[in-house]
This record gives sequence, C-alpha cells and structure tokens, in this order.
Amino acid sequence: MQKIIQGIDKLQDILETIGCRKLFMVIDSSYPFLNIKDQIEQTSVTKVCFSDFSPNPLFEDVCKGIDLFNVQECDAILAVGGGSSIDVAKCIKLAVLAREGNDVLIPPLVSKQVEIEGKRIPFIAIPTTAGTGSESTHNAVMYYQGSKQTVTNDGVLPDYALLEPKVLSTLPLYQKKCTMLDALCQGIESWWSVNSTDESKGYAKKAVELITKYWRKYIFNNDADAASNIMLAANYAGRAINISATTAAHAMSYKITSMYKLPHGHAVAVCLPEIWEYMTAHPEHCIDPRGQEYLTDIFNLISKSLGTVGAYESITLFRNMMKEMNMPNPITTDRQHELELLASSVNPVRLKNNPVQLTQPVLYNLYNTIIK
Ligand SMILES: NC(=O)c1ccc[n+]([C@@H]2O[C@H](COP(=O)([O-])OP(=O)(O)OC[C@H]3O[C@@H](n4cnc5c(N)ncnc54)[C@H](O)[C@@H]3O)[C@@H](O)[C@H]2O)c1
Repeated sequence: MQKIIQGIDKLQDILETIGCRKLFMVIDSSYPFLNIKDQIEQTSVTKVCFSDFSPNPLFEDVCKGIDLFNVQECDAILAVGGGSSIDVAKCIKLAVLAREGNDVLIPPLVSKQVEIEGKRIPFIAIPTTAGTGSESTHNAVMYYQGSKQTVTNDGVLPDYALLEPKVLSTLPLYQKKCTMLDALCQGIESWWSVNSTDESKGYAKKAVELITKYWRKYIFNNDADAASNIMLAANYAGRAINISATTAAHAMSYKITSMYKLPHGHAVAVCLPEIWEYMTAHPEHCIDPRGQEYLTDIFNLISKSLGTVGAYESITLFRNMMKEMNMPNPITTDRQHELELLASSVNPVRLKNNPVQLTQPVLYNLYNTIIK
C-alpha cells in the first residue's frame, strides 16, 4: 500500500524508516535549479545520481541507469522530477528486481509479479510537475525502437509519493499548462472509463473539482495555495487512472505528440473535446456494460464537477479553457497523408477502455477536426 506524504521536510524520516544507506537518485536536468534540492542534499545518506536520459526516455537510457544501479549496489531509489524521471526510476527498479533483467522491458510487455524473494528496493517519488500522477501509478512509459511502450507492473508503484508543491514555482508556464491539462484529462477519462470503480470515480471527482476551482489562480497568478491544490489534484488523477486506465483521448494523443511534437498533456487535451462531442452524439455505440443511461449520468456528473450543466456545455467550457491558455490545435501541412497516419496509429487495445466504440472511419473524422 502506497504512502502519500506531504512536505519535503519528511524525506529524512522516510529514509530512516526504510533503513536507506545508499540512495540511487533519478533526476532530470531541472534538479540543480529546484528549490527543494538543498533539503534533499542535506539528508544523511550516500547519494548516487543518474540523469543521463531525456524527456520521453528511451530503453537505452534506462539500461544505462540499470548498469549504474547494479555497479553502485544502492539500497533504495528516489525519483525527483516529472513523469519522465519517475518512469525511468520505475523501469530501473523493475529490471533490477526481475529475473529476466533488462529483457523484462522488451516488448511484448506482460504484466507479471517480478519481486525476487528476499530482495526489495524501497522507492520514493517526488513529482516536480503536477500532471502525470506517475508517482501514484503502476505504469511506466518509455520508447523502445521508436515506439511508445507502457510497462505495467504492481512492483513499480512507488512505496512513497512525497508531494511538495513549492517545487512547482520553477516550472515554466507552458509546462504548467500541459501537465495540468494531462491531470484534468486523466480525471475526466478515468471517470468515464469502462474500468471505473467507485474508488476510481471518487479520485477522479476530486481531481476534476480541484482543477476546476484552482486552475486560473495556478496558471495565471502563480498562487501557492492553488499550486498545492493542483498538485493534489494531479495525484488524485494518477490514483484514478491507476485503477481505471485512460481512454481514447490518451490513445489518440500519442501520434499527435510524435508527429507535431506537442507535449503529452497538450496533445491529449486537443483530442478530448472532439471525442466527448462524438460520444455525446452517439450514445447508441456505448460499449460500457453499465449501459447508455449510466454513461449519460456519468457525463452529467463530470459536468457538475466542471461547474456546467450537461456534456455540450462542458465541451464548450473545455474548449474555452484551451483558448484562454493559448493552447492551439496542431496545424497540418499535408492533411490527407497525416490523417491516414494518425487514424492507423491508434492502439485498438487502448480503445477498449473507451465507453463508446470508435471505429477507424470515426477516428479519421475525429483527427480531421483535431488538426487545423
Ligand atoms: N507513468 C505514468 O503513469 C504516466 C502518466 C502520464 C504521463 N506519463 C509520461 O510522463 C512524461 C511526461 O512527464 P511530465 O509532463 O511530467 O514532464 P517531464 O518529466 O518530461 O519534464 C518536462 C520538462 O520539465 C522540466 N521540469 C520538470 N519539473 C520542473 C520544475 N519543477 N521546474 C523546472 N523545470 C522542471 C524537466 O526538466 C523537463 O525538461 C511522458 O513521457 C508521459 O508519457 C507517465
């Protein structure tokens, strides 16, 4: 069971509780400038740092981290960073513990129990963006031979998620927008996912409500209290998708990211309103076994949390929010060719979580409205 702890001042206590002597730190290039760095450095354990990877990490990057961990014989892992750092740390932990070693990260990835008897590596994650919720999920994203791979394994869920919102004060504005939109989309998608449970819907509701209440103050006023609430919201969204998984907006976003170089959260957010509009207009294609009426109720509940009445008003609100933050849709240069690539890119397995069936021609039409 993961422990969620607030405040960087708790790090020393956590390290003592887990009996850490030599800490393997996975950090990104922002680490030297973070306002929590001194408090991390002051903890009384030996530290080995690994930062030789880029955002959207590659399998080869992760392998370098695995080698360093094994050579240094560390006894715990601390990830400090956005989703990329946390995901690298997760992959390192998995490969170090797995009997198959690095091969456990090579597709096809099969979810399996990897903990080796008698050996454990306590894992702490300190998110420095408020969006991915990776500190509270059992997924890790990395690229293998150019394709995005999601490693899913209960063994990679951090034992501790340590939330310190003051770290968000150095996050560039565009990154703040992208990561917050990722959290909002996770909350909405999790809520309507066919895998949702009462627990996941509770987390999703909290995420959507907190973002609705605090997003403007967080984005436009740099307000500390708002940052604290958005960090919490992102964590709730992570806990929600850890149960339900994400749906079509995430599935459709990946090719947008690689084709138009839009960061993850921005790419997901340009997809979500178009998908929601299609689903609202076509409840007859509902594939959630709980039925069409259930889905309409869910759309109404999501709308209520967004402060609107009904799906169409929510879709308008979402589009206005994107405009207010100046988050444009991608611009096409070769529409026909790009649409064919986009429509054929979507992983059908991921679409199964979506409550309304999306066929290939529907995906094509949706992308046609997303790219401008
Ligand atoms: N595992 C999961 O459950 C999950 C969920 C969603 C997304 N992801 C993955 O997470 C990745 C995206 O993560 P992200 O959006 O958090 O960004 P990121 O980790 O890729 O970081 C983006 C940039 O922001 C900088 N940065 C981070 N925190 C900073 C701070 N406080 N101050 C200044 N600069 C800072 C980093 O150095 C980096 O240059 C993608 O690979 C995505 O696929 C994973």
